[in-house]
Amino acid sequence: MQKKLIWDLPLRLFHWLLVLALVSQWITAELGSEYMDYHFYIGYFILGLIIFRLIWGLVGPKYARFSNFLYPPKAIWQYLRSFLQAQNPHFTGHNPLGGLIVPAVILIVGAQAVTGLFASDDVLASGPYMSAVSSETQGWLDGLHHKIFNVILAIAGIHIVAIAWYQFGRKIPLVGAMITGKKTDAAQSSIGSSRLLLALIIAIIIAAFLYWLIAVAAPVPEMDYYF
Ligand code: HEM
Ligand code: HEM
Repeated sequence: MQKKLIWDLPLRLFHWLLVLALVSQWITAELGSEYMDYHFYIGYFILGLIIFRLIWGLVGPKYARFSNFLYPPKAIWQYLRSFLQAQNPHFTGHNPLGGLIVPAVILIVGAQAVTGLFASDDVLASGPYMSAVSSETQGWLDGLHHKIFNVILAIAGIHIVAIAWYQFGRKIPLVGAMITGKKTDAAQSSIGSSRLLLALIIAIIIAAFLYWLIAVAAPVPEMDYYF
């Protein structure tokens, strides 16, 4: 059977760059102050990735769209039941349960990146918006930046176990498809094109927005903020 393009290139890049960037964020946070510059830049990059996926969910190719993989709770429950009964209900894009990873990551990783803008290690490194809020609010957002990361680890853990289960338990080669974009599927049509030009235009607009957000619009703290 012929393999067909299902996952477009921007979606695959989003996925693997996100994995790489999240691992880097963990490492740079653990290494401490000297590596905080890297932590900041990679954090802005992740914010860009999340904004991109949000827009791509509206204007990307068929299987990248929210309308293709966000199902009502009843359909998610039915899918879970049939899966547990060892059936393999077929979905070309994300299945109803797996599709939940997209809104979960947009919300949780997005919240981690946004709270980072307000975080501070109380010594050398502070996010660009630290002084934009009261010190109580800043402390609260900083606390969230620490706590939310555990939720990201939990989501990533569940996701990786689930993917391994499909891959090795059910012998459904999902990982290869997320790398090449292609699946063997007679029933569905391929996406035709990855819409690379549109993805590039969106990426440039997001980069310009992030530059404005971080380098232009961010408040310069008053000296007495620190004392
Ligand atoms: C080495 C570890 C990982 C592997 C092997 C992996 C593999 C995969 C695969 C195969 C899919 C497609 C699922 C499907 O066919 O429905 C997928 C989707 C996804 N994964 Fe991962 N993943 C990994 C780590 C992560 C991590 C750490 C995150 C972030 C917390 C993540 C977030 C996502 C998201 C958001 C999607 C949906 C893609 C989209 O539509 O944009 N993955 N992953
Ligand atoms: C999704 C992206 C991000 C992830 C996954 C992430 C992850 C982390 C982690 C795991 C820590 C260490 C927490 C701990 O020791 O308990 C941390 C600390 C920190 N992060 Fe991020 N971060 C992200 C984005 C950002 C951004 C965009 C900024 C600022 C521009 C930022 C600024 C900071 C600062 C200043 C600290 C030190 C906080 C302290 O010591 O109290 N982070 N981050």
